[in-house]
Formats: sequence, C-alpha cells, structure tokens
Amino acid sequence: MLQLPPDVLQRLLAAAQAARARSYAPYSKYAVGAAVLDEQGHVHAGCNIENAAYPQGWCAEATALGAMVMAGGRQAQAVLVTGPGPDIITPCGGCRQKLREFSLPASLLIIAADPSGVKAQWTLEQLLPASFGPDHLKHL
Ligand code: THU
Repeated sequence: MLQLPPDVLQRLLAAAQAARARSYAPYSKYAVGAAVLDEQGHVHAGCNIENAAYPQGWCAEATALGAMVMAGGRQAQAVLVTGPGPDIITPCGGCRQKLREFSLPASLLIIAADPSGVKAQWTLEQLLPASFGPDHLKHL
C-alpha cells in the first residue's frame, strides 16, 4: 500500500484541521477541511463554503484544489479530508472528478480523517474506477 512519510501526513492533517476551523457550513453544520499535497511538496488547504441558495455551495476539496492551481501546482499527490465523524468521510462524486483532472488516479492518495485522527485511505482509482480524464480528449 502507498504510504506518506509520517511528517508529511502530520502536515496535511494539521493543515486540514486548521482549514476545517474556517468552514462556512451554517446550513448542514457539517464542517469539512481538506489539504492537498502537490508535486513540489507544497500543501494547499480549503474548507467547505455553503450558500443560502443551497446548490451554490461547494466542498472543502474544491477550495483546496483551487488554492493548489492558483499557487502553480498541477499534480496532486495526496488529499487529506477531515470531517466531524463518526462516519468516515469520503469525497463526493463531483470532487472525485475534480481531483481526477489534477492527478494520476492510481497514485493519488485520498486520506479520510475526523477529530480523533486518520480513519481510512484509498487511491483515487479505487474511488473512481474507469475514470474519464484529460487523455480522452488528446486525440481530437
Ligand atoms: N462536504 C465536503 O466539503 N467534502 C466532502 O468530502 C463531503 C461533503 C461538504 C459539502 C457540504 O457543505 C457539507 O459537507 C455537507 O454535505
């Protein structure tokens, strides 16, 4: 199984927890933080941001990915997402596809945590098998 070095995992966990503290989730009350590790070893964090017009809200992973792209990152190596528990959080379908755009699905680690620590880990390929991605468009 792919594993992150413990110090890198700790950095991701701390960044995601700090981002979760910034969550704007007045409607669901489900606060989420995410931290993305890019190809240069930089960490980019984000929280979920809801909206009174409910469908306009977005996930913590989307905020973190946007931060990565704006900082010049193009390939995510790992994403740690942390929610309130007790159920293990997993990225929604839309976020799996967003992550697909900026990763190699077989090696992107998705790590789920809650306030008590890390709970589960998958690759993006496990969560989004047979995915559609940038390569599908390159022969046109
Ligand atoms: N949410 C995330 O930010 N990330 C996830 O992985 C799952 C769900 C948010 C969206 C919404 O603001 C709240 O959690 C409840 O669905």
